[in-house]
Amino acid sequence: MTTIPPVTDVHTHVVPPGWPDLGAPDSPWLRRDSTETATIMRGDREFRRITDACWNADTRLADMDADGVDVQVVLPTPVFFGYDNDPDDAARVAGIFNDLTLEVTGQAPDRLLPFCQVPLQDSDAACQELDRCLDNGHRGVEIGNHVGDRDLDDEGVITFLQHCASRDVPVFVHPWDMTPAPRTDPWMLEWLVGMPAESQLSLLRLALSGAFDRLPESLRIGFAHGGGSFAYWTGRADNAWQQRRDLVGADSEHPPSHYAPRVYVDTVVFSEPALNVLLDVHGPERVVLGSDYPYPLGERPAGRVVRESSLLDDQKDTILRTNAERFLNA
Ligand code: CO
Repeated sequence: MTTIPPVTDVHTHVVPPGWPDLGAPDSPWLRRDSTETATIMRGDREFRRITDACWNADTRLADMDADGVDVQVVLPTPVFFGYDNDPDDAARVAGIFNDLTLEVTGQAPDRLLPFCQVPLQDSDAACQELDRCLDNGHRGVEIGNHVGDRDLDDEGVITFLQHCASRDVPVFVHPWDMTPAPRTDPWMLEWLVGMPAESQLSLLRLALSGAFDRLPESLRIGFAHGGGSFAYWTGRADNAWQQRRDLVGADSEHPPSHYAPRVYVDTVVFSEPALNVLLDVHGPERVVLGSDYPYPLGERPAGRVVRESSLLDDQKDTILRTNAERFLNA
């Protein structure tokens, strides 16, 4: 008898309720505003208002039931990564965050699958924290798409990704820490423009640097928000690689689109034409349900675009169920 894989949302976030104020000037802390609401603060500045969906397993499960989601991958919220800290501090911060996350996901371990964070600025410490977390029940790791000026083709990051492949652990890459600029200050343009560009930038760096040629094909790596702007501009990047390598100087064996089937992307793109581009570029086995729950620019109900699309039922099932099972090796 074959069992039907669960509907799995690979892109949701957690903020653990016991998160302490670590006292560093710019490190995030939680201001509890009521039993159901809190604000993520940076210093005395409000970063984001959040609700108990961030930490209350019962709230999450009720929303999942309402949306028809069986399982959530529960990811760290990127502002807590601590990549700016010195490595020892970052390792300590990651450990606190990861252990507190288990208190949330442990309330429904079959439905809430925790991914850990790691001090990515130090590949040894990152590998150690990943190993510790895998022993404690984490199912994968989320990383930011850069560590300051170092992107995913950085030697230390590649070392960490190779370790993930050797441990057979899925990696989910989330854009974060967009460069503030006056032109992207209003209307959440850092999120609307900066985030998709960040993902595209990191995917192109992995491709053009030759990092994908060095990383094992067995590495399961996924990108948030449909991989940002990457899929829509593989034609431009391929043309540059093929026609103007004299200018581009790429170090890769293949043009960027060649590597797209190595990458899982989620479905938080809010339009059927965009979803179809992802299916064309990355392949029907690489598109996974993601919602960005419970954050304000996420999709509710989770999976709406997939379910309302004109795809066939078995294509929808592949996106909603089967591909995540493969990504997670569940
Ligand atoms: Co997100």
